[in-house]
Amino acid sequence: MAREVVVSGMRPTGRLHIGHYWGVLKNWVSLSDRYECYFFVADWHMLTTGYADTAALQANARGYVLDWLTTGLDPEKCVIFKQSDVPEHAELALLLGMTTPLSWLENNPTWKEQLQELSKTKLGKAAAGEEATASEGMAASRYELRTFGFLGYPVLQAADILLYRGSRVPIGQDQLPHLELSREIARKFNSIYGPVFVEPQPLLTQTPKILGTDGRKMSKSYGNGVELEQTPESLRAKVMSMYTDKTKIRADDRGHPEPCPENPTGCVVYALHQLYTPGFEKIGEACRAGRLGCVADKKNLIQSLEAPFAEFRRRRESYAAHPEKVDEILAAGAQKARAAAAKTMDQVRQAMRLK
Ligand code: TRP
Repeated sequence: MAREVVVSGMRPTGRLHIGHYWGVLKNWVSLSDRYECYFFVADWHMLTTGYADTAALQANARGYVLDWLTTGLDPEKCVIFKQSDVPEHAELALLLGMTTPLSWLENNPTWKEQLQELSKTKLGKAAAGEEATASEGMAASRYELRTFGFLGYPVLQAADILLYRGSRVPIGQDQLPHLELSREIARKFNSIYGPVFVEPQPLLTQTPKILGTDGRKMSKSYGNGVELEQTPESLRAKVMSMYTDKTKIRADDRGHPEPCPENPTGCVVYALHQLYTPGFEKIGEACRAGRLGCVADKKNLIQSLEAPFAEFRRRRESYAAHPEKVDEILAAGAQKARAAAAKTMDQVRQAMRLK
């Protein structure tokens, strides 16, 4: 029996951190064993908001793929590719756009929120004609946010999924409105032209919330991430700089490793011990009893992180030694993806009587 198809993508922004690893990639690696998987870098989606600044886009896309490979995602077990290498995504998005009511897109909560968020940035304000300095105004004239492409984000995303008959889409909670739209877009198409598409369902996974070094949610925009690429020295420095417990001043003070009124965010180091150190409960006990100081605790965490990060480094270095390998993986991935996409597009054209 044919395996179910899993499709997921990521927009390439900067480098990946362990929040992405625990939240997404670890899951992708294990899904690769059970499903027919298509994982891609959504570089076209990046253009929906970042169209005026494409200088780093392709380097970021490649960096993402390298990060994915670093975590053990295996190109023999899943199809890894770049969206822009498979023009069928654009063709299907165009056709799906014909049947997608504008109101669905205008009412998309993600679009409304993002538009608001982006308008708060300097560039956004300048685009709206507020507080624009001359140079911001110039940048803003190249940075209109109310574009056809940005509004159509979910149509392109629906195409990404439907093109491979993806029935399962591993995504975060924040992406549920987009997936709902993908289903509606599929349903509408099927109701007009006949049953071509599968309606994709979300694959929500339990993922731990990863704290950044400062105790807030780990995020690139906060600059508090632990990126997957670390030297032993940079890893050590990151851990030594982590927030622990502002009430624990001396090594023998009683600590609050878990979130509580005294230490609302909880200790970042302890949160990581829970993911990386077997028998972490003992560490929590010792901290609470005032038997473990933060410096010693951090040194223990550095030890726990050594092996997994060495494994990342080993994989990364093997690709660094053969940079052409990433290109080969992307080329082979695009070829496989295009073969699958061509079959679907054949059916789409037939159903629409375009051939
Ligand atoms: N919108 C997704 C995000 O921002 C990225 C994405 C694009 C995607 N196409 C997709 C995810 C298709 C799943 C399936 O994270």
